[in-house]
Amino acid sequence: MKIAIVEAKTPKKGSVVLSVAEGRQLGPLGQQIDKAVGGALTRAMTAAARFSGAKGQWLEVLAPGGGLKRVLLAGLGKPVDVKATAFEALGGEAVRRLMTSGETELAIVAEVPKGAVLPAAEAAARAALGARLGGYRFDKYRTTLKDKEKPSLSSVAVLTGAAAAARKLYQPLDKLADGVVLTRNLVTEPANVIYPESLAAECRKLAKLGVKVEVLGEREMKKLGMGALLGVGQGSERESQLVVMQWNGGKKGTKPVALVGKGVCFDTGGISIKPSAGMEEMKWDMGGAGAVIGAMAAIAGRKAKANVVGVVALVENMPDGKAQRPGDVVKSMSGQTIEVLNTDAEGRLILCDAMWYAQERFKPQAMVDLATLTGAIIISLGHEHAGLFSNDDKLAERLTAAGKAEDELLWRMPLSDAYDEGLKSQIADMQNIAGPGFGAGSITAAQFLQRFVKDRTPWAHLDIAGTAWSKKDKATVPKGATGFGVRLLNRLIADHYEER
Ligand code: BES
Ligand code: MN
Ligand code: ZN
Repeated sequence: MKIAIVEAKTPKKGSVVLSVAEGRQLGPLGQQIDKAVGGALTRAMTAAARFSGAKGQWLEVLAPGGGLKRVLLAGLGKPVDVKATAFEALGGEAVRRLMTSGETELAIVAEVPKGAVLPAAEAAARAALGARLGGYRFDKYRTTLKDKEKPSLSSVAVLTGAAAAARKLYQPLDKLADGVVLTRNLVTEPANVIYPESLAAECRKLAKLGVKVEVLGEREMKKLGMGALLGVGQGSERESQLVVMQWNGGKKGTKPVALVGKGVCFDTGGISIKPSAGMEEMKWDMGGAGAVIGAMAAIAGRKAKANVVGVVALVENMPDGKAQRPGDVVKSMSGQTIEVLNTDAEGRLILCDAMWYAQERFKPQAMVDLATLTGAIIISLGHEHAGLFSNDDKLAERLTAAGKAEDELLWRMPLSDAYDEGLKSQIADMQNIAGPGFGAGSITAAQFLQRFVKDRTPWAHLDIAGTAWSKKDKATVPKGATGFGVRLLNRLIADHYEER
């Protein structure tokens, strides 16, 4: 599917999507199109009594004349409430509705209604981004799709009066979409395809964007003393990997922002094995690493003027004769010892070594880790917000704002010494889970991670267990792997860590 931004003119063929503001208000081009089809759009809106142009309303007008196959009217709501994300949703939903309809050509008329404070170019660029994200599919393993089930839409044109400016704005958004698509692909792939070494190989491909990629194997990690990470991977036939991705687009000497990702390519739970029902979902337990990889692709792709380092810890958590046992004590790279009471609380064990490594080597000005860390965060926040834990109010506010702007919502959760009680071990510096009845599973996990934050490094932990995968379609996020985190991280860097 090709997406282009072109100068506005009345389309004469294919299908058209038109934005309509509350009160059935068409923009100038919309009115022109209505005229070209003899007022068919106005008549259709009147006939469909309850179509007012409210946000999220759609009205499909078939064969309106003027050579058009159909016109879809998309409600934007009240002009004062219209935000850039409304145009993303419009672009995404438009493509989703027509993708397999048999239509090949779609024109999206992304007109900003009078009274909305949004540049026309921005609306058009966001509509194009929405079209790319909403049109995402993963058909690689389908060999029996019938022709009429295959996507028919081959070209999408976003029409705007500000095409040149919109194209310029779209350039970095297109790279952002590349990053989101990469993450969705990696997270969707099954664990027999994406395992630590093959995922590391995918990271290596970022070299073509100018990212410096290094891969550490088990031998190197052993030398570094990463006993916590290695313990998790020791029951797997697959070798654990730690991948370091550096994008140095900023000034030499500026400390980087470190992004750290949990990459458990499959989480059986290990000897503390999970129940079989639903275990297939644990292929996406590398969603944190996936987001970091996609964010690095977006940041490097758009040549961000910032220094960013991505560190992803890649393991497979399996039970076998060599697997780590409940009760084993491991020594982390930081020197702190951990009693592994539950081998299914493995994410924190790999993250603690990856975080320590990132700080020792890069002295980052800020560090954000992303992890599908706890089922408990789904109890707390469901699938609408990811959990945010931070030792730094400023970083927490920046992340929250970035999430709002990109529609990847975060909700801040507490950190507090009071929860440390649950991590006291009888024989080691700490245990990896709090005892039964302690509760607050997501917070004790974050509190565990905080023990591996050096000095006063501003740090935030995003628990994305509820948001990395979705069971329902949204306009720009089809069900399945969401790519959650890529947009948020890209925006965080763009708004706060980039030179202008
Ligand atoms: N990967 C899981 C967390 C998870 C659960 C993600 C459900 C997505 C959906 C993590 O490794 C895990 O198993 N966590 C345990 C921790 C417990 C043993 C303290 C959990 O949440 O049950
Ligand atoms: Mn687990
Ligand atoms: Zn896990």
